Amino acid sequence: MTIHSAPAKIILFGEHAVVYGEPAIAVPFDTLTATADSQPLPPGSGLLISARDIGGEFHYNEDNVPAENALLVAARLALQALRVPQPDARIELRSTIPLASGFGSGAAIATALIRAVTTAVGKYMDIDMLNGLVYEVEKLHHGTPSGIDNTVIVHHAPVYFVRGQSPQPFAVGSPLTFVIANTGIAASTKETVGAVRALVESDPHTYRPLIAHIGTLVREARQVIERGSAAELGSLMNRNHTWLRDLTVSSRLLDDLCAAALDAGAFGAKLSGGGRGGNLIALVDPAAAAHVEAALRGGGAERTWVMTVR
Ligand code: PMV
Repeated sequence: MTIHSAPAKIILFGEHAVVYGEPAIAVPFDTLTATADSQPLPPGSGLLISARDIGGEFHYNEDNVPAENALLVAARLALQALRVPQPDARIELRSTIPLASGFGSGAAIATALIRAVTTAVGKYMDIDMLNGLVYEVEKLHHGTPSGIDNTVIVHHAPVYFVRGQSPQPFAVGSPLTFVIANTGIAASTKETVGAVRALVESDPHTYRPLIAHIGTLVREARQVIERGSAAELGSLMNRNHTWLRDLTVSSRLLDDLCAAALDAGAFGAKLSGGGRGGNLIALVDPAAAAHVEAALRGGGAERTWVMTVR
């Protein structure tokens, strides 16, 4: 039995602006994962997808795939791309990634599932095909995703991402320690992306330059990450957060938690992902991580984690 797994992801810089063609930087977050394994069933059993901690158990029927069932849609995309009929197999999916929280749960689940379907039919799928299929599944969740979630999760490496281009791997000059805090508030990325679009369309003179400024900041952040300067990177995070607030995708809680992290000694803090809920990240000295975590939990964060990017 092969267990396929896919990590959660965290966006370090550039969310929202990435939808408009600016770069963004994202990393895998391995503490949270989606896994899928496939076991053969007797001939004629068909394909059974069991995802009890995500949404239920589903029998695949090629002629009846509800458009809103991301698991069955992912399975059909994989089987069609590989040009094979459904296997007689049971795929067991599990995920520890909170849903609708900016961790890329949908992309991680689809990645693990498509890999398990590929194994079940005894085929090989290259990474570009997998990335393209997971992107198709992402459209169900997000409407018009930039593609950053599926790319960082499928590649399972830090990426500098520009929409429509191959991801660029980059070096991390010295390890960076982040505290990740989940607000416990599920927020719809589709809605926040729509809200930013409405702003940009209603007042392009104000918001187009702001999006471009975020892009410039992300290019600078890449260089700072490559140089390995945490203090400089922290101030870029603070600036990116301010600009996301100007785009109306922060919230009182996210702003308060960023302030709490800075008070507790973080180099910088910003929301991460779609915003208005979901996650924030704080860059810290490893020795200060526990203190910053405590401050974030005291400030109302539901859960916190420490992640080191190398
Ligand atoms: O999936 P989330 O909530 O981490 O947000 C994805 C990042 C956005 O830039 C807001 C949307 C996108 O498609 O890139």
